[in-house]
Amino acid sequence: MPDAGAGPWTEVCALADLGPGTATTVPGACPPVAVFNVDGELFAVDDTCTHAEYSLSQGYLDGDAVECELHFATFSVRTGAALTAPAQEPLGTYPVEVEAGRVFVAVTRRCVLAKLRT
Ligand code: FES
Repeated sequence: MPDAGAGPWTEVCALADLGPGTATTVPGACPPVAVFNVDGELFAVDDTCTHAEYSLSQGYLDGDAVECELHFATFSVRTGAALTAPAQEPLGTYPVEVEAGRVFVAVTRRCVLAKLRT
C-alpha cells in the first residue's frame, strides 16, 4: 500500500484491468469516486456529476475530459474543473498511486454516511 500522508488508501483494481480510455470506481468510497486512465495517466475524481448527480464513470472519456451521459456537461478528470454547461461546480480530485501493479486511491473526503460508520 502507498505511504501514509495523503489519506486512507483504498485498493481499486489491477492496473491491467484499467486500460487507457477506461474508468472504474473506488470500492466502498463515500462519496463515490471514479478512476480514469488517460493514455496511461490515472486520475481520480468524484464520480457524481455536479449538475444532477449522475455517475461520471458511465460517461464518455475524450482525452482528459469526461462527458456526463445525462445532460452532456464535461469535466476535466485531470483538474476536476467543469468545462461545459450545464455543470458549474468542479469535481473533487484525489491522489492515485500504482504499487506492484495495483491501483490505489486516497479518498481524502468522506461523506456523512461514512463518518457515521466509524
Ligand atoms: S447530470 Fe450530468 S450534466 Fe446533468
